[in-house]
Amino acid sequence: MKIPFNKVYFPAREDEYVLEALHSGAHCGNHAFCDKVIALMKSRYGFRNVFLTPSGTAALEMGAVLAGIGPGDEVILPSYTFSSTVNCVVLFGAKPVFCEVDPRTMNIDAGRIEALVTPRTKMIIPIDYAGVPCEIDAIMEIAERHGLIVMQDCAQSYGSVHKGKPCGSVPHLATFSFHETKNFSAGEGGALIVNVPEWDLRASFLQEKGTDRRLVLNGMKNKYSWVDKGSSYLMSDILAAMLFSQLEAEDEIREKRAKVTAAYLDVFGPYVRRGLVRVFEPAPYVTLNHHAFWTVFDTEENKRRFMALLREKEIYVYIGYLPLHSAPYGQKLGYRPEDLPLTEDLAARIVRMPFYTSLADEGLSYCMEHVQHALHTVYG
Ligand SMILES: Cc1ncc(COP(=O)(O)O)c(C=O)c1O
Repeated sequence: MKIPFNKVYFPAREDEYVLEALHSGAHCGNHAFCDKVIALMKSRYGFRNVFLTPSGTAALEMGAVLAGIGPGDEVILPSYTFSSTVNCVVLFGAKPVFCEVDPRTMNIDAGRIEALVTPRTKMIIPIDYAGVPCEIDAIMEIAERHGLIVMQDCAQSYGSVHKGKPCGSVPHLATFSFHETKNFSAGEGGALIVNVPEWDLRASFLQEKGTDRRLVLNGMKNKYSWVDKGSSYLMSDILAAMLFSQLEAEDEIREKRAKVTAAYLDVFGPYVRRGLVRVFEPAPYVTLNHHAFWTVFDTEENKRRFMALLREKEIYVYIGYLPLHSAPYGQKLGYRPEDLPLTEDLAARIVRMPFYTSLADEGLSYCMEHVQHALHTVYG
């Protein structure tokens, strides 16, 4: 049996919805299924304003433009993240300032952010690694003290909740990814959440190539024109139809994924208690969307042995992110591996386990049996 790292899940109605969108003849952005997705996201999680985008990457870029990030600005973010989190900083000429992670979650260590704030700091971009929420309330407090904007990269945390507040509902801006590797997939897709009412109109201009087309759609103008800078930050209605079928099945998807988390916790538990590996330690006040499962081994050598044993059985485990500060482009920008020793060390020992919704239905016991066997072979 082969256990891939990820697999897209099809709930019940995707064919029906995608065909409906196709035959509607209205395939571009902000049509019927986009409206349905936005309405569902708002009613389920109370998001103030949602803009569907072609990807999580595009949502981050749109957010950076909206926040006015530019040359001379500094943006604090973790180094342990995907390149898109930092690209939205460097693309607009600002300087990334990398912060260490909290080993309990691999999210930005909120306790180390304030020391990095300078008069040039403009924004903080925390992420929610593996769907585990960052300490957004502590981050917002720092931001308020220093007049900073917070854009939470929730690429992995759609449906997670922190202290009763859904991920994405608290900061000034938040972004989601609906890439095929995520819990809910449009193939490629994303969303920008705008929680500052004064930014709504400008966000609609940015999304529509810098035009006020939204005012025409709302019947407030006859003809639209170029009013601001912008790009094409829209999701096709056909992709929104695919996404809608999955968001409608959110409870079913979460339930299945929770089984996968529980199975991993069960099999890794004894090794965690023996102090040999670490797994995420979400705070008691968070609700997980069960996006992913990671484990940090005691040594790189044991990590390699564990991965090789599972790969032999066609169980596709992966390494985590390669830190950005020590990546080729990070070093070109002047950062050095020794700048963030904790991130560097943990990233060298982390493994991400196969995780997808239908693993709960097929392959879970096979996968766990071999994970158990590999752990026993490595540690006895
Ligand atoms: C933390 C993080 N940010 C941003 C992205 C980019 O999202 P997308 O692939 O939808 O552009 C990802 C995607 O994997 C991610 O994990």
